[in-house]
Amino acid sequence: MARPTSIHVCSQCAHQEPRWHGRCPGCGEWNTLVEAPPTAAGGRGGGPAGGRRPARALAPTRLADVVAPAVARLETGIGELDRVLGGGIVPGSVVLLGGAPGIGKSTLTNMALGNLAGAGHRTLYVSGEESTQQVRLRAERLAGAALSVPVIAETDLETVLATLEAERPEVCVIDSVQTVAAAELTGVAGSVGQVREVAGRIVAVAKRRGIAVILVGHVTKDGGLAGPRVLEHLVDCVLQFEGERERSYRTLRAIKNRFGSTNEAGVFEMHQGGLIEVLDASARFVGGATGAPGSVVLAAMEGARPLLVEVQALVSQSELIPPRRVVNGLDRNRLALVLAVLARHAGVPLGNKDVFVNVVGGVRIDEPGADLAVALAVAGAARGVALGPAGATRPVAAFGELGLTGEVRWVGHPERRIAEARKFGLDPILGPPGSGARDSPTLRSALGSVLGARRVASAA
Ligand code: TYD
Ligand code: MG
Repeated sequence: MARPTSIHVCSQCAHQEPRWHGRCPGCGEWNTLVEAPPTAAGGRGGGPAGGRRPARALAPTRLADVVAPAVARLETGIGELDRVLGGGIVPGSVVLLGGAPGIGKSTLTNMALGNLAGAGHRTLYVSGEESTQQVRLRAERLAGAALSVPVIAETDLETVLATLEAERPEVCVIDSVQTVAAAELTGVAGSVGQVREVAGRIVAVAKRRGIAVILVGHVTKDGGLAGPRVLEHLVDCVLQFEGERERSYRTLRAIKNRFGSTNEAGVFEMHQGGLIEVLDASARFVGGATGAPGSVVLAAMEGARPLLVEVQALVSQSELIPPRRVVNGLDRNRLALVLAVLARHAGVPLGNKDVFVNVVGGVRIDEPGADLAVALAVAGAARGVALGPAGATRPVAAFGELGLTGEVRWVGHPERRIAEARKFGLDPILGPPGSGARDSPTLRSALGSVLGARRVASAA
């Protein structure tokens, strides 16, 4: 029997080569080419077999004349999810929900399907990872109509497709796309070839039958593992569910959205009864902030929403070479940059000190606007000084990016950050020049303005 010759697909950029190369000729990454069956090339699937049809020219339509009927979205009843999606699930659309194992993807999709089923929509939950009993056990813990969701536990692609055709649900969850496999392919489930094939075939059926599909996909910390990367162009919307597994807070962000803004983000908390939307996130995170030495409130942005979080720093004499830099909720490299700027441009040398920085509450902040707050927290901790006016019981608030020459740079949405900080009575609020906050053109001037009183903590 003649086997079809395989191709090699890059797991980073999806470049295809007939032969294996150590380095992808498409993107230059090493060891990313993975063998895949020719079907995954996308040239064959669905098209008429045999010779080419003669091409027929089309008459283009002016965009204004294109008829685009408004479609009613399917609301999942989870406000934060609906908002990130742009107002609910678009019928017939394909959403990829990525996130590290244990973050709560199954919980979120289960809850969403439960609400949809409760509202009278046809749903289907395809579990490739857990048995139907395990899915039921989770659903028992969830509020709402989670138990009324029809479920199958299946990993064979053909069976899943046949079930989709037979059931014709309005919304279907495939949990996860990495566990379903096409029997005719040699690669193991989760390999690039399998994931592309599985997603491509499911998407084709979904588009033909108007089924909205949520593909759940695992992603490792560095966004690796076969799949999600190569799927991004296939789907309408890519959602990323992140947070630290040991902590209860989770953020949901849209990375790509054909039907809404990618500026939205939702905050959740994992509870006994599933995921709860956190609507007053700022109040939660700064409620306990004391303004002690090393505590500064960062006026951050989570998508288009302002979010206040407390940044805490601890600086102590180091016994180690090199000294320790421990950071939670922020990028390590960003902390290294902030420490270098502090030493070089603000007269706060930390070469023989251990530095610990933590974003309280276990949220992760991924924006350069955090720099100034981190620098102030570390400087306050290093000097053992509470920042801000004497006698203040609340911490100072700050936002702004640090440049390598010690300047404080502009970041997006200053007015929303300031308004949120004012709402919680924080004063002063330090920000880049022209932002409406207390002008801090450089890190040195920012430090000078809040260290003015120089109250040295007695017990430091
Ligand atoms: P899960 O949704 O299975 O994560 P994923 O599908 O992303 O791998 O759930 C993750 C964790 O959440 C799991 O360790 C148990 C916990 N959890 C709760 O704390 N409360 C709950 O009500 C549920 C359903 C799960
Ligand atoms: Mg799961």
